[in-house]
Amino acid sequence: MNIEIAGPEWKSIKTDLLLLPTYEKNIPSGDSGPIPENTLNELLSELEDTGEWKAAQGNSKLLIAPHGIPARRVGLIGMGSIDKPFDPGKFRTAVMNIIRAVHSAPIPGITAVIDVPGMQADICRMLFEGIFLGLFNPGIHKTSGSRSPEPESIRLVTSLDRKKAETILTEARILCEAVNLARRLSNEPGNLLYPELFVEETEKAVSGTGLGIEILAEKELREKGFGCLLAVAQGSRNKPRLCVLEHNPFPDKQARPLVLVGKGVTFDSGGISIKPSESMEDMRADKSGACSVLGAMLAIARLNIPSRVVGIMPLVENLPGGNAQRPGDVVKAYNGTTVEIINTDAEGRLILADAMAWAVETFNPSCLVDIATLTGACVVALGHIRAGLFSNNDFLSEELFQAAARGGEKLWRMPLDDDYKESLESKIADIKNCGERWGSAVTAAKFLESFIGETPWCHIDMAGTDFFRSGINKGTPPGFGVTSLVEFVKAMSGRDPKILSA
Ligand code: BES
Ligand code: MG
Ligand code: ZN
Repeated sequence: MNIEIAGPEWKSIKTDLLLLPTYEKNIPSGDSGPIPENTLNELLSELEDTGEWKAAQGNSKLLIAPHGIPARRVGLIGMGSIDKPFDPGKFRTAVMNIIRAVHSAPIPGITAVIDVPGMQADICRMLFEGIFLGLFNPGIHKTSGSRSPEPESIRLVTSLDRKKAETILTEARILCEAVNLARRLSNEPGNLLYPELFVEETEKAVSGTGLGIEILAEKELREKGFGCLLAVAQGSRNKPRLCVLEHNPFPDKQARPLVLVGKGVTFDSGGISIKPSESMEDMRADKSGACSVLGAMLAIARLNIPSRVVGIMPLVENLPGGNAQRPGDVVKAYNGTTVEIINTDAEGRLILADAMAWAVETFNPSCLVDIATLTGACVVALGHIRAGLFSNNDFLSEELFQAAARGGEKLWRMPLDDDYKESLESKIADIKNCGERWGSAVTAAKFLESFIGETPWCHIDMAGTDFFRSGINKGTPPGFGVTSLVEFVKAMSGRDPKILSA
């Protein structure tokens, strides 16, 4: 996609798609105003009067361009009221929805008005990201049909210079390729992407990036004592894996790495504690945490962020086969903790517990972030808008919260009081894998906390944000977490790990 910076004559140059941010009360963005002003303003007024258009933040509408406007289509993007802070995620979603609404028609040329004073770089970034994310095709198993190809050129109405816009484009492309990979993999069905094939996809994705890769197969997992992970995996013929990626730009230094761990349940039937069949097909996306970690590691390597980062993906399938674990079983975790299995559907925390305990012992991380579609309770608490953020470290938690916001994703800090751990007390083992129903997003986090020792740690429960939403984006997984993790790693890179213990 070529970038052109528009000169004043842009208002008369024909384009395939004109992207036009508009504020509430009919104020077009920036100083330049829209083109031929009267035609468009009249149309906007009419659409607002009839209720067909509201410029609320995040709204978008694709119009057939009215006569007199030199565009085939006009994409309206709601900016909300002029005094409201800019919401990068909403803007990106609006652009994405316009591109998706174009569907398969080619859009060789786009003109985008992004001359909103003071925030042109942020808007430019979210514009590019919205375009790349909007081109994602969720229907890869359809025997016919496709999505629009990447536009050939984009003309920006902006005071940014071309070099700056090109740097933003390069980063946005790298990031969105990573997000789109996470989306594609998290949406793949369980029969086409089980742990062994997830590893193959990972090997393909990382080749040529400089990322180190290590795979632990079943035999090594058994020898090393990944008792919880193996207990989940034993109900399926598809064997588990632990996939480890490493980005180490300074191999001589052996710095303590920042470690990312993602839940990779390639299909979660619940096991013997089987789930109801309604929407069970969504549980193919129960590997979204692992997909986010893979996407983040790819982007981190390709952007060459100057820090050592390790990404760990425990991969299993949770099925109720003849050898499946039973409620009541007692298994031994990697760190020696004995776990009484109360509910085989609380499997995510089991595979994360082993992976995190192993990570702490093997890498002595400066900090660890895990990300998982962990609990239905978190969906009840926060819906589809924010993911739960749990942490034993206020500084780290704030960094991650802010990083997510910059990346256009929303988190919300949740509690971790020790009182919540009481319901995990077992009469026969060290801990139960599931407590009472109430507050069970927190008890799940408390379970995880007992496997990370003193390591500064954050846990993201993205069950609500990753499962498919309603509206135009139904059926397209968002690849939640990739941008948050990348922004977070950028922010932490070069920081003295000691600030974490302060
Ligand atoms: N993968 C699910 C969590 C989930 C639920 C993700 C809904 C997305 C949407 C997880 O493995 C699970 O089944 N959790 C149980 C835990 C319970 C048995 C303690 C849950 O949330 O019901
Ligand atoms: Mg489950
Ligand atoms: Zn699960």
